[in-house]
Amino acid sequence: MKVALLTSGGDAPGMNACIRAVVRTCVYYGYDVYGIKEGYKGLVEDKFQKMDRHDVSQIIDRGGTILGSARLDEFKEKKIRKIAIENLKRRKIDYLILIGGDGTFRGGIDLEREGVKLIAIPATIDNDVQGTEYTIGFFSALDTSMEAIDKLRDTSFSHQRCTVVEVMGRDCGDLSIYSGIACGAEMVITSETGYSESEVLEKVQKAKDDGKRHLIIVVAENITNVSELAKKIQKNTGYDSRASVLGYIQRGGSPSAFDRVLASKMGILAVDLIKSDVHNQAIVSKGLHIGHMLIDKALNTRVERPDLYQYLDKIR
Ligand code: F6P
Repeated sequence: MKVALLTSGGDAPGMNACIRAVVRTCVYYGYDVYGIKEGYKGLVEDKFQKMDRHDVSQIIDRGGTILGSARLDEFKEKKIRKIAIENLKRRKIDYLILIGGDGTFRGGIDLEREGVKLIAIPATIDNDVQGTEYTIGFFSALDTSMEAIDKLRDTSFSHQRCTVVEVMGRDCGDLSIYSGIACGAEMVITSETGYSESEVLEKVQKAKDDGKRHLIIVVAENITNVSELAKKIQKNTGYDSRASVLGYIQRGGSPSAFDRVLASKMGILAVDLIKSDVHNQAIVSKGLHIGHMLIDKALNTRVERPDLYQYLDKIR
């Protein structure tokens, strides 16, 4: 049996722990395992490398991905995927394991339709794969944003400022709302809450009138320009304001214990499914349990998740 694996899309802490689990489980069952460099790009460019258990030593605590990652828009084209499929056939690969986010999963659905047997494992800091409660990397990125916002709060308090912080997540507000709860933010603005500039200004004015010494406003990326918002707050309310974009630090760093365990469990289950010749499946989590469902369903059916927005009004 020959298994290949790749990491694709934005990297996430825990991808290495997952690679380790897949490689070691394959070795455990006596399968040949190949790592593909730089995601779908490497699949098209035929960048395969045979791996054994020693290739994944000392990586469980490392951020990023030892296989490298890339975004390849051209993978949406059938003629490009055809090259990838020919590479898999020529190398007699029986199963492919994909580790990545929703874009990676979409590529996987196309490949399955074209005859490739595969399993998809959700790993992205955005937590935007609908069928899983948590993706690998989400909680580690949350720890990073929490530490950064805690530091911003210190200086915000000293200088009596309003700090507007932009958090990643693409179109998903999870990283923002969890960060907001974890850091005691006064406001969280995401695609789920909607955005009204006048409402923000009104709330800041009220907080200032109430004598609040400092304010933290968490804004999900792709909502508004946080520097402009901070300037408007200062101009309209007189509350001294600054903006910070957390950016790519959220993608790096050593994975948390939760992510290492989640990544290990998901990687093992992926290979166990292959062993039973089950494919076209995404590994998903619900609470502390993991299971699997059709990849298409994992992209389109939202698992019930805790609604953290309801808490904010009570504890801000
Ligand atoms: O998917 C993870 C993510 O970091 C998003 O939060 C962000 O919108 C995007 O990737 C940035 O992508 P890139 O690495 O292509 O700039």
